[in-house]
Amino acid sequence: MDSPIVAQLFRQLFHHRPRGCQGRAPQLRSALRSSQRSSRSYATRASADRGMKTNESRWQQRTHILPEDRREEFAQYPYMSIQDLKKRAERPRKVKMLLRDFIDDSLYNPSYGYFSKQAVIFSPGEPFDFPSMRDELEFQAQLGRRYTEFEDGLDDAEGENPSRQLWHTPTELFRPSYGEAVARYLVSNYRLTTYPYDDLLIYEMGAGRGTLMLNILDYIRQADPQVYARTKFNIIEISPSLADLQGKHLRSTAESRGHADRVDIINKSIFEWDRYVPSPCFFLAMEVFDNFAHDGIRYDVSTEEPLQGHVLIDGDGDFYEFYVHELDPVAARFFRVRHAATGGNYPKPYPSNPVLRYLSTKMPFAANLSDAEFIPTRLMQFFDVLEKYFPAHRLLTSDFDALPQAVRGLNAPVVQTRYQRRMVPVTTPLVHQGYFDILFPTDFRITEAIYRAITGKLTRVTSHGDFMRRWAYVEDTQTRSGENPLLSHYKNASVMITV
Ligand SMILES: C[S@@+](CC[C@H](N)C(=O)[O-])C[C@H]1O[C@@H](n2cnc3c(N)ncnc32)[C@H](O)[C@@H]1O
Repeated sequence: MDSPIVAQLFRQLFHHRPRGCQGRAPQLRSALRSSQRSSRSYATRASADRGMKTNESRWQQRTHILPEDRREEFAQYPYMSIQDLKKRAERPRKVKMLLRDFIDDSLYNPSYGYFSKQAVIFSPGEPFDFPSMRDELEFQAQLGRRYTEFEDGLDDAEGENPSRQLWHTPTELFRPSYGEAVARYLVSNYRLTTYPYDDLLIYEMGAGRGTLMLNILDYIRQADPQVYARTKFNIIEISPSLADLQGKHLRSTAESRGHADRVDIINKSIFEWDRYVPSPCFFLAMEVFDNFAHDGIRYDVSTEEPLQGHVLIDGDGDFYEFYVHELDPVAARFFRVRHAATGGNYPKPYPSNPVLRYLSTKMPFAANLSDAEFIPTRLMQFFDVLEKYFPAHRLLTSDFDALPQAVRGLNAPVVQTRYQRRMVPVTTPLVHQGYFDILFPTDFRITEAIYRAITGKLTRVTSHGDFMRRWAYVEDTQTRSGENPLLSHYKNASVMITV
């Protein structure tokens, strides 16, 4: 525990601290864009490895304190699947599960999940007037002020809440310009392809406050009434509270109520989707991939064999991570699909040179397993849904391609909570379920290859800045100094589109 604020936070959240939960110095969420990284290391060779049969579980301790041996509990405790977890109103104890399901439950459990209960998305109120600002610094100062006002307003309405989870997305910061850029892309591509034979059918997965939907519809109504008359917008939203908020915003003003008969808000996870949509449609996913659960994998450094990460929760609610040789069918398929899609050309969390690999195992205190790699199994399943139910879709997605301050590992997530109005990143995803945002970077090279392999469609990936230069009216977000926050923020985000 290296920061007083983290100690205070965990005293508040837990009776005792979950293992491996060592917070770093508090940072604002915007510091995600800095390049600072943790240099904490995991402990080394696990004691349970000695004398074990190769198909038994292996402990990979995550703290600097030697863990007690939990093999007996691992053998006894029942497995919980994601279906079992969804039904739970309280956090489970004395159980084991896949790391992927633990993350899914932490983020989306209907009773205590982060997105169901905790997430509050910042809205700046009136759009920022960028051309009247001196420069980017002034934008930062105004943003800070509006954050404080927004949260003071929430305190007045709901009472003080030191662990309120508040964060922002580009949709909100740059509204309406961000949504208008997306709308321009949609209308141009619709007019160039299926207009007038088909309607403009838009699906948005994970719509947050519903701001992108409103900005897109406002723009189309004003810029192209003919297309507006043919537009239908569907939101697929997992979180009941966010779906409710989206509906409220849709009904809140006469202007937005005008869109109501074109909008359908479907409160379900995309992974429960079961309706076939044969018509051509655009499918939007902005900052949703980053919150899709991943599997944790470590490799036997001598054989390169992957082991899949599981979580054990003991009777005290402490978390332990362990790895087993058998891959579940979803992870096994991911490895097959990735290999076929990339021709075996993807990064690995251990030296690919066999000599270096051999030497790395001979170092004093060398680990028997590699660093963790986090594989986007849920993302692969999302592409399966697109392929099965939306055969004529065109995807437009934007997400982080890199995340500083991530936990250790390849493609590793940032795990953070907000306490007393400050972001607090921690060093493991094994944290009190529901209180932490767990967000992963997207490796767009691999993602594009997997998407192409599953859907048979072609794609283009550009930077967030290049997409905005092409489709936004960038003068609307330019400050007097010439600095343009729409282009300079989110340098670590990319956009992928179906071509
Ligand atoms: C980080 S927020 C982004 C919100 C919005 N797109 C924006 O950019 O402002 C992620 C959104 O995706 C939703 N979401 C996450 N997983 C989902 C799933 N499996 N199905 C549908 N919505 C999901 C969350 O509830 C939330 O609304």
